[in-house]
Amino acid sequence: MVCLGNICRSPLAEGILQHKAWKAGLQWSVESAGTGAWHAGEPPHHLSTKVAKLNGVDISKQRARQFVKEDFLNYDFIYVMDSSNYIDVKQMSGKLWNETKVDLLLNELHPGQNRNVPDPWYGKEDGYHKVYEMIDQACDKIIQKYGARTELIADV
Ligand code: 4NP
Repeated sequence: MVCLGNICRSPLAEGILQHKAWKAGLQWSVESAGTGAWHAGEPPHHLSTKVAKLNGVDISKQRARQFVKEDFLNYDFIYVMDSSNYIDVKQMSGKLWNETKVDLLLNELHPGQNRNVPDPWYGKEDGYHKVYEMIDQACDKIIQKYGARTELIADV
């Protein structure tokens, strides 16, 4: 899960998807990163942490890190929060760029529409609640889509 700062949107996406995967009994490793390094080492924004906690998800122990191109080697799929994250990830990845492994998160909910998860960083708490809902719905789709497939692979 990738956004710009790795303190507002992608920590929510990491926490929500990891939580849903655990609940579904899926052995998924979910991580998040930012294309920028300004907040590396910091915990998530206090409003992301608060909204997650209100929804039963603990993201307080996460620490921000910058996206690295080797994430393409270590992860099956990379979701970006907005189209500028997509461009930045592409530029940062060089030869490891793999278009089939990257998509905008909201394309899971609205296929092909290339909608952005808006950046709540500049706004008030209600923006964080809206972003939470969007990410939560998209993560439900991911569990529906890939969860069954993972079980099939595990059964073989
Ligand atoms: P995020 O939000 O990409 O959702 O983590 C931002 C956090 C920090 C900044 C921008 C966006 N910033 O400019 O420091």
